[in-house]
Amino acid sequence: MSDLSVRVTQAFQERFAAPPTFVVQAPGRVNLIGEHTDYNDGFVLPMAINRAVWIALQPRADREVHIHSLDFAETAVFALDQLLKETDHWIEYVKGVAWALQADGFQLQGWEGVMAANIPQGAGLSSSAALEMATARAFTAVTGQLWDAPRMALLGQKAENAWVGVNCGIMDQMISAAGQAGHALLIDCRTLNTKPAPLPPGTAVIVLDTNTRRGLVDSAYNERRAQCEEAAKFFGVPSLRDVSITDFLASEDGLTPLIHRRARHVITENIRVLNAISAMQNGDPHLLGTLMNESHVSLRDDFAVSSHELNVMAELAQAQPGCYGARMTGGGFGGCAVALVAAETAVTFAQAMTQAYQQATDLTPVVYLCQPSAGASVISTL
Ligand code: GLA
Repeated sequence: MSDLSVRVTQAFQERFAAPPTFVVQAPGRVNLIGEHTDYNDGFVLPMAINRAVWIALQPRADREVHIHSLDFAETAVFALDQLLKETDHWIEYVKGVAWALQADGFQLQGWEGVMAANIPQGAGLSSSAALEMATARAFTAVTGQLWDAPRMALLGQKAENAWVGVNCGIMDQMISAAGQAGHALLIDCRTLNTKPAPLPPGTAVIVLDTNTRRGLVDSAYNERRAQCEEAAKFFGVPSLRDVSITDFLASEDGLTPLIHRRARHVITENIRVLNAISAMQNGDPHLLGTLMNESHVSLRDDFAVSSHELNVMAELAQAQPGCYGARMTGGGFGGCAVALVAAETAVTFAQAMTQAYQQATDLTPVVYLCQPSAGASVISTL
């Protein structure tokens, strides 16, 4: 049992003088490769990490939800029959999921519980998708519904888009809903079919938080999405997923230089993801690392979503002994880089990176050694 699972269970016991009926968890994620491809109906290759949102809960007889957050030291309450959007608050993610599930025809029931998480917020490790999927797990556990990962991921995305008001693709919810222990997951963001892929033997995944956060990320994200749509329109297809590299090279002259670069990133990134999955299946860390390095260059130069600190982090990581490859990960402009390293060098790599990044930027990074973990799950305790 994880530490947090014990913590929420004990806190529940103290609060309700009984053991919880269920303990649910949903993990954060790091994306190995396939960035800004999800909203182009393309391919992504994220893995769920060993950091998650945990909720210990029991059903209520009425239609209210009461959650106590140990992290925020506060309790939030809402009624399923009176869902009202309020200000920026963590409970809006929970309400948003309740709203999306009910709008999709789910008959929900109230519950009460205690929640805690160890996913850093705003770092690009999908703490919000994890909260959405933990919530969906809680609701489905209470009513005894089976877990349909793609459906739940889509409803979580709907909650985030339409209730919380953040325009994101499907990757984060999908990996949190469907991750598999010991594996990354190839996700086809058009069909939501998935294929697990093991890390190459003897490798470790390290997340390197630059400790920088940028404003206006949402507007830059929406602008990139619009540019991709414009490119797809030029090619006369529903999304850039449908443009082969051959078609692209044959008619690239007709695109403006900016749209050309954006489209080139997405089209080549999809190819890199498919090559990455073969590299993983063949246990080839060198090829996987090279593809990660290429992805970084493409995100930096063609898609223009990197930042000075992300570039410094990725380049310093690539130069360390035992590192196969490194790149910025997630939406960009700040947040984290991800590195694939030889497992036996992981600890020295982490130490060396902390020093090197600090020296180069005067910022203190946060380094996470991540285990590929299972997606959202429920543990029945009674
Ligand atoms: C954010 C979004 C994802 C995805 C990535 C970029 O994390 O939430 O849906 O678009 O950016 O790959």
